[in-house]
Amino acid sequence: MTRAVELLAESCPHFTWTGIYLLEGDELVLGPFVGKPSPHTRIPLGRGICGAAATQRATIIVDDVNADPRYLACSLETRSEIVVPITQADRVLGEIDIDSDRAAAFGPTDQALLEAVAQALAPRLAARVPVP
Ligand code: SME
Repeated sequence: MTRAVELLAESCPHFTWTGIYLLEGDELVLGPFVGKPSPHTRIPLGRGICGAAATQRATIIVDDVNADPRYLACSLETRSEIVVPITQADRVLGEIDIDSDRAAAFGPTDQALLEAVAQALAPRLAARVPVP
């Protein structure tokens, strides 16, 4: 997970904050990240764009975070966000969360890349997350 966020942050200059949250019970718990420390180290499933993506088990792209009432602010400079759930057999294990200081920074290429990374991480996370 650490290497994945490092590689993504290195190779994608528009990724200002790159992190992974892990689902523990009904909370998303911050794992490895590259960027400024976030105040949101634990996010209940019902909150934030992170909570929405995990609940819907679907990628969410927000072009303008300030126009989205779900948004939990991490940094004043953040303008857009993409959250990609990491799932296995319909079970959410965690998610990849990326912020950008650029508005509408994320498109289909980012989504495809991050969904492929999520798919690669899923079996590794499944191996360390107990089945409920
Ligand atoms: N913006 C997220 C919270 C996490 S920080 O971006 C790292 C959200 O709205 O869920």
